[in-house]
Amino acid sequence: MYLTKEEEKTLEGEYGESLRKAIEILVALGDIYEADSLIPVKSAQIAGVSYKTIGDAGLEWISDLKGKVKIPAILNPAGMDMLRWKEMGIEPNFARKQQEIIDAYERLGIRTKCTCTPYYLEGFDAKLGDHLAWSESSAVSYANSVIGARTNREGGPSALSAALVGKTANYGYHLDEMREPVIAVTVDCELSGSDYGALGYVAGKIIGSRVPIFSMKGHPSNDELKTLGAALAASGAVALYHVEGVTPEAVRNKFTKPEEIVPVERGQIDEVYETNSDIWSSEIITVGCPHCSPEELEKIARLVYGKKLEKEMWVCTAREVAERYPDLVKRIEKSGAKIVCDTCMVVSPATNKYSSITVNSGKALAYVPSMCKVAAKYASIEDCIKEAGAIDEN
Ligand code: F3S
Repeated sequence: MYLTKEEEKTLEGEYGESLRKAIEILVALGDIYEADSLIPVKSAQIAGVSYKTIGDAGLEWISDLKGKVKIPAILNPAGMDMLRWKEMGIEPNFARKQQEIIDAYERLGIRTKCTCTPYYLEGFDAKLGDHLAWSESSAVSYANSVIGARTNREGGPSALSAALVGKTANYGYHLDEMREPVIAVTVDCELSGSDYGALGYVAGKIIGSRVPIFSMKGHPSNDELKTLGAALAASGAVALYHVEGVTPEAVRNKFTKPEEIVPVERGQIDEVYETNSDIWSSEIITVGCPHCSPEELEKIARLVYGKKLEKEMWVCTAREVAERYPDLVKRIEKSGAKIVCDTCMVVSPATNKYSSITVNSGKALAYVPSMCKVAAKYASIEDCIKEAGAIDEN
């Protein structure tokens, strides 16, 4: 792989051990995937934040690093709401370790707002063709597919390395030829809201890690595309998808129609809603996977208006989004639902104490049973609120 003089010096340790380690990781990846060079990236989003997933070894690795990031960099969700962790039932020892992880990242100049939807935050906007180094799978999918930016599904260490160096290796989804669809998915029924997460859950299992192009009726919103992409990335390992006539690259490019065509029918979508339905009553309801957009918060606020919820319900979102819309937060919390920031139902150990959960996310449906050992049911946002035992206040 070609390196500039400056990059060579970095690799030789002239700018310190942390930068040397960081560029070494990028060069190693570049060599494996036959990248021609390193390319500048606009921002980084770094996974490997929850103490639940990285433990003491991860904390030690991050704490040893020195220096400052060269580009805007932000963290993936942590294991708890950094302010309301006691309300979530988080143990003090876990909270202390989690805070140490956040502090270690902060010393490197990383923004410690923890979210899987960095694209809603100032400084992390991206546009068609921008190169990024993001790591959370739904954020990667959104960046590649909905925005048309370019990022590989970075691991925590490689995203952190990219943030420190300001560059990443030029391979995979940074290249035009890797962005061509190789499998077509045709959907012959009308879809709305959570149907897109169910579609992603079904299609991801068939597609695996390939790049699909969907042909479907109607024009999904960006929130619907967000849930489709999150589920595709979780039940499969899809980092980029196209939707004919909808996503930016499918609108601009004339892709060759893939030979393999997979039809998805209404019955397959309905089956996702039926998982566990015969035995179902959930102890907790969680929405906001990926973290809620302002529009989703607005919708929830409308749905819970004048209602009191009987069960625990979390509405997960980025802290910066919650702070921007205090009125929506107030309206949602008036119902008894909790706005939970910095974390989510999958990466927080707080979920593990429940035996059953209702979610409106195909990604959460795929991950909660294995990562939290909690039985999960899939429902629309309206049915999630019903399941929370919403009763009229008056
Ligand atoms: Fe985000 Fe957690 Fe879902 S990181 S995409 S809310 S599993």
